[in-house]
Amino acid sequence: MKIAVIKETAANEARVAATPDAVKFYVSGGHSVSVTKGAGKKANFSDADYKEAGASISATNDACVKTADFVMSINGGSKALVAKMKKSAGVFGLMNPTDHPDYAKACAKAGVTAYAGEYIPRISRAQSMDILSSQSNLSGYRSVVEAAAIYGRSFPMMMTAAGTIAPAKAFIMGVGVAGLQAIATARRLGAVTTATDVRPATKEQVASLGAKFIAVENEEFKEAETAGGYAKQMSAEYQKLQAELTAKHISKQDVVITTALIPGRPAPRLITKAMIKTMKPGSVLVDLAVERGGNVEGAKPGEIVTTANGVKIVGILNWPSRMAADSSSLFARNIRNFLPLITAEDGSYTPDWDDEIIQGCALTKDGEVIHERLQ
Ligand code: NAI
Repeated sequence: MKIAVIKETAANEARVAATPDAVKFYVSGGHSVSVTKGAGKKANFSDADYKEAGASISATNDACVKTADFVMSINGGSKALVAKMKKSAGVFGLMNPTDHPDYAKACAKAGVTAYAGEYIPRISRAQSMDILSSQSNLSGYRSVVEAAAIYGRSFPMMMTAAGTIAPAKAFIMGVGVAGLQAIATARRLGAVTTATDVRPATKEQVASLGAKFIAVENEEFKEAETAGGYAKQMSAEYQKLQAELTAKHISKQDVVITTALIPGRPAPRLITKAMIKTMKPGSVLVDLAVERGGNVEGAKPGEIVTTANGVKIVGILNWPSRMAADSSSLFARNIRNFLPLITAEDGSYTPDWDDEIIQGCALTKDGEVIHERLQ
């Protein structure tokens, strides 16, 4: 099949959906690959690297996708680009489908099948294609490193001839993929680390990373995990108890990383302005959920806000893009593992519509929007 790798156009996007290594793999498998000029530049992959791997370089995204059977992207590309794709082609990316329903409509109109990476079912067989996990893991790491840079004090305890420096206290709220990596990173840097979540399974995971778990562990907590492994929306009563516990704990924290999300809903509000007022000047709050409405009151997407009492609220967007070489490599590997599901034995682009992974992530088919979440 003909594969296209486009250059991302979003302002804060430095990733690319295929690395030169991935291109080499596709070419050795008999596919032809076209890469848009400069597609890998921000992730430190040059056009020369792609050429050496066997790709041809297209001058523009329009030219790159024109005859492609399968288009690889980070964000799906624009609606205008979709209109330039070949009828019956496939496009893969993180499409944020419910926030951008017009995108799926544009794909249907063009007769293009859109595969939304975020909808790949989280079944064991699809773990190697799980883009949400591969990218969240890096976000969790980077959020702590960035917080450490913004925090004007030391993370580890230091005993020096000039005196002892106390270790930072870090609190991680939400212990999914990003939260677990944030805990591990904060611990490695030497912070005294605590963490919370509403899913009971996380208690043991937090302990195994050497951090202390704190949560409202009532009857509702015991039922808070869905069959799919995600958190449920908690009752108003639980949220009140959780807020009381958070309020007590947070005033003593130096660095707080929030990662709490509930699929299909706005992010839960976990930290209020009143709680922030009790924090010490110089404390740092990083809200990884800011794109989905935010866990922290006052967090602003794309900004670092300093409150009147000197607390910094970090609303940086697109964390994986800040580590574009690594995040692109993992992203590319995820797509590479997805490719067999849309490839026939003769190497042609032939999606396996009987496969539950394809059924789970395809937004469109034969000119129609088919995904249940978009009906
Ligand atoms: P996520 O990004 O949807 O949410 C992050 C975390 O926030 C979750 O741990 C969630 O429980 C927590 N949260 C939600 N509401 C909260 C609240 N009010 N207070 C505190 N915490 C709250 O989750 P993510 O990272 O996508 O992982 C969800 C689950 O899926 C985990 O159990 C993870 O281990 C599992 N998973 C399974 C995979 C597989 O089997 N293939 C792959 C990746 C993750």
